[in-house]
Amino acid sequence: MASGLILGIESSCDETAAAVVRSGGEVLSNVVASQIATHALYGGVVPELASREHLTNIVPVVRTAMAEAGVSLAEIDAVAVTEGPGLAGALLVGITYAKSLAFGLGKPLIAVNHLEGHIHAVLMEAVHADPSTAALRASGRDDKILALVVSGGHTHLYLAEERDGVWRYRNVGRTIDDAAGEAYDKSAKLLGLGYPGGPLMDFLAGHGDPNAVEFKLGGIKTKPHREGTARGGEFDFSFSGIKTAVLRYVEVHSMRERAEARHASLMQIEGDKREAALALCDTETLNLIASFQKAVVSYLVKQTMRAAEEFGAGSIVVSGGVAANRGLRERMTAEAAVRGLRVAFPSLALATDNAAMIAAAAWPKFVTGEFASDELNAMPQLRLG
Ligand code: KG4
Ligand code: ZN
Repeated sequence: MASGLILGIESSCDETAAAVVRSGGEVLSNVVASQIATHALYGGVVPELASREHLTNIVPVVRTAMAEAGVSLAEIDAVAVTEGPGLAGALLVGITYAKSLAFGLGKPLIAVNHLEGHIHAVLMEAVHADPSTAALRASGRDDKILALVVSGGHTHLYLAEERDGVWRYRNVGRTIDDAAGEAYDKSAKLLGLGYPGGPLMDFLAGHGDPNAVEFKLGGIKTKPHREGTARGGEFDFSFSGIKTAVLRYVEVHSMRERAEARHASLMQIEGDKREAALALCDTETLNLIASFQKAVVSYLVKQTMRAAEEFGAGSIVVSGGVAANRGLRERMTAEAAVRGLRVAFPSLALATDNAAMIAAAAWPKFVTGEFASDELNAMPQLRLG
């Protein structure tokens, strides 16, 4: 008899992850082997190194997830794996492993879109923590969910609805250039804060004046959609402008040397770099970071609120690595309250890439029997909705 246990596997970017989740809601284990230390030396993810590290990590990570959950492979009901989007070589490691495991065990294989995973990380926690928020998952006009998936690779707005156990998504907005997390990471790099710089920028933003520098974001012109052209829709995002503005500010204010010295000092420090980074930042740098955060957060919140209104969504779900951002959480919560909208964020452990979210998103597919064939392949450009 099925006990509702799904083993999730995620390897789309720079984290090798495995998790066991019961019935799409109860996380029995959630193991993540991060490659940040490897890629930090190069200031960004190096695809070849990522694939190699996934190969080294996948077996021990799955074993640890099984051991921590206290279940045997024979007790698992299905194996779920990220199909895309992501790095082709990285995805293939997880997919090949999941396929052979499912085949060997004689259990179904379930393919999950990474973006759907991020959304389900939040749905799972909201419903599990407080069953009254089950309304987040109900269908009907007032209970339409608007999901903002905001990470190092994505800045997408989706309308999500469940009908008869099947989730459907409609993409209503996306970045036309950089992702929000990418803007954080690139600006952090310019300021000598290392990679990935989002968490450090978020911390430092609390120590500067958010009104010191004025950044302009948005202003995308709405153009008729033409196949194959970069379209700027009403709820789309653009982050390349602010990245260039930060670069220009650093040049005009002769901040480059200071940034290089800061980077050299921070490289010597292991573990939590927050206090050291704060001590190494002058007021001008802290003000720049606080102003950057204010601009990015305001823009994300503004577009999300406009879309929620336009599409009549009653709930907002924010997910992906940037959902960990304190400024974004505060501002989104406040603006949602003003409009009488529900808002949900993931816990910090489920905000960045993990496999519990893959197992959670796989649950409705398990229930409805939506299984992958043994032809399953990596889909680096996979879309949602
Ligand atoms: O979801 P994720 O782990 O991987 C992707 O699918 O991209 O997101 C990682 C991204 C990185 O760009 C990182 O800098 C950003 O999320 N990030 C943050 C914060 N924590 C992580 N950005 C801003 N503030 C944070 N607190
Ligand atoms: Zn992600």
